Amino acid sequence: MDLLDTVEDYHSRAASILPSNAYEYISGAAGRSQTLQLNRTSYDRIRIRPRELVNVERRQLSSTLLGMNFDMPVGISPTALHRLAHADGELATARAAEKMRIPYVLSMFVSTSIEQVAQAAPAGIKWMQLYLYKDRRISEAVVRRAEQAGFKAVVLTIDNPVNEDKIIESGDLNFAADFNASTTWTDVEWLISITTLPIIVKGVMTKEDALRAVKIGVNAIIVSNHGGRQLDSVSATIEVLPDIVAAVQGKVPIIIDGGVTKGTDIFKALAMGANMVFIGRAPLWGLTVNGQAGVEEILRLLQRELDNTMALAGCRTVEEITKDQVLHEAQYCLTSLVTFGQK
Ligand code: FNR
Repeated sequence: MDLLDTVEDYHSRAASILPSNAYEYISGAAGRSQTLQLNRTSYDRIRIRPRELVNVERRQLSSTLLGMNFDMPVGISPTALHRLAHADGELATARAAEKMRIPYVLSMFVSTSIEQVAQAAPAGIKWMQLYLYKDRRISEAVVRRAEQAGFKAVVLTIDNPVNEDKIIESGDLNFAADFNASTTWTDVEWLISITTLPIIVKGVMTKEDALRAVKIGVNAIIVSNHGGRQLDSVSATIEVLPDIVAAVQGKVPIIIDGGVTKGTDIFKALAMGANMVFIGRAPLWGLTVNGQAGVEEILRLLQRELDNTMALAGCRTVEEITKDQVLHEAQYCLTSLVTFGQK
């Protein structure tokens, strides 16, 4: 049997285990998968500039967001129906996140109940993902259940007024039917008004929307294109991150997801101003291969890779990862053109 050394190894193994419709659902993307591919390849266009001869004997990966402490700046994005990947479904994922002390965002399209997930991982930090429906009572009921079950934030997904993501069915919350194409920022204001939980908006891809979100009082932003599953041909998330970071000016924390499969990706996103980096499909590959232990393996693997990258780049803490430690490949082209021109 092949060794499982990288997220891609887990992906390949999962592909050989899953029934084809489940594999297609998880790995699939909108349109011609241009954004899916861009999410991945855009990381490869960014180069790391390491600092040598820094004493990196002691390193710390811990991170804090909205007053919550985590063991590394990584979290699990909401993905639907984990029982497609493994019989233990969301319970296994929640337990793995609890053990690794990282945040887990439970999708509104759960294949287990919110309360069961809360019971399975009582000490884990869990956030509840939400879609807004025409009937606000549906969304409000989910918020109340999440509050009751001890969830620590609400993640409102805003990038699918119409749904390209092919939801098959939902065991607990049967809401697959009507997405609300009439949702606006007023609905976000309403959501903020009905709960004391922090509101995080997921699916911001422009500085204009980021500023709007900050203005109406959201607590954090997730730069996301839904893993390339909604509007094909939008930019990679890592491409738009710098613009959004510059506009937001630290007023709220910024999380990014999409295309992250390596420790170096996490390093690059942090260097470019993200406070945390989330992963969607990667934990599902681990879950498919080995249930809870598989999700933990994916998280440990990324933790090791990030730790190693930090050591080699001369960073002892997450805060020491700064923007002068990355450069886009286009910059090297420009520099060499200018230098060449001067000769
Ligand atoms: C998702 N995503 C998603 N997002 C969300 O807000 N609610 C949801 O229910 C789902 N469901 C879902 C199912 C599957 C199978 C995938 C792959 C993705 C999007 C998800 O939260 C995240 O934005 C992307 O998965 C991040 O990209 P990577 O890490 O998968 O490349």
